[in-house]
Amino acid sequence: MHEIDFRSDTKTLPSPDMRRAMAEAELGDDVSGEDPTVNRLEAMSAEMLGKEAAVLVASGTMGNLIGVLAQCQRGEEVILGDKSHIYRAEAGGVSVLGGVVMQMLPNDGAGRLDLDEIESAIHPADSHYPPTKLIALENTANASGGAPLTPEYMGEVGRLAREHGIKVHVDGARLFNAAVCLETPAAELAADADTVTFCLSKGLACPVGSVLCGDSETMERARRLRKMLGAGMRQAGIIAAPGIVALESMIDRLAEDHSNARKLALGLSEIPGIEIDPDSLPTNLLFFEITSGDPMEIGRRLRERGVLVSPERDVWRWVTHYGITSEDVDYALGVMREVMRDHAAA
Ligand SMILES: Cc1ncc(COP(=O)(O)O)c(C=O)c1O
Repeated sequence: MHEIDFRSDTKTLPSPDMRRAMAEAELGDDVSGEDPTVNRLEAMSAEMLGKEAAVLVASGTMGNLIGVLAQCQRGEEVILGDKSHIYRAEAGGVSVLGGVVMQMLPNDGAGRLDLDEIESAIHPADSHYPPTKLIALENTANASGGAPLTPEYMGEVGRLAREHGIKVHVDGARLFNAAVCLETPAAELAADADTVTFCLSKGLACPVGSVLCGDSETMERARRLRKMLGAGMRQAGIIAAPGIVALESMIDRLAEDHSNARKLALGLSEIPGIEIDPDSLPTNLLFFEITSGDPMEIGRRLRERGVLVSPERDVWRWVTHYGITSEDVDYALGVMREVMRDHAAA
């Protein structure tokens, strides 16, 4: 049975071009800087994000961990959102492994932190407090509906950070979704960040990897940290090759995922028992509530018909991505309509 997997854009499989690129990649020992394919991916990434240098890392989690550790010492502090992936879903790594204190501020519905709240949260030089060194933002903001942070907002955060002599890290796991949605070059979105990480292995459909970008000195520290964490990878061109294909050919098509998400949201909004605001839908993540029936049972019935979802959450998140077509969306909406109707009648 053909399966339509809305659980996450991490479920994407590599394209035929990516598989070919992996098979044919020119390789070397990347720990010695000798893998030409990794070097090319890192140079392309740095250029696309307007930074001096880049480092290929194993995952988005590792990109964030290294990004924070490269800019905060033990006992120093990062300000970040209470809905941020770094805080909620990375096993507390920056604190556990780096001794970095996390100070949480509330994310608003669009994934932003309030500028006044950031300013009040920055600690003065006082021995009572951990010195504030970093602000971490997320673009797009996963748990805030996949909202993109605009260059204007980034500019305001950047100005504030510079005034206080602190740095900005962006978890850009889905930065290119933001760029496509806002029709703004990724470099513009990254201009006010000192470090930015983006994922190859989500909507860009690569099997593995993320890239951390920043100035050359910080990226040298990042390389050392990557080695320390045991992720100095040898012939990593195997991973970098599909990353190059992704940067060359998978970014513009993210618009298709966004339009599929819009179509899904509109369709779902017409089904009784589903509560969704179709207007609050900027990218490829859509959130809604099942207001009647047993979500676990509905999830099971959807799965039986090839529609894979994560029903255990209160708020359902469906993610559109490479591999899900407009026809798949029509099919899934039809199945959802029937399942909700049958379930209500039972
Ligand atoms: C916003 C965000 N940041 C970071 C990550 C971590 O990426 P990875 O799963 O590659 O560690 C994710 C994963 O879903 C994410 O959604």
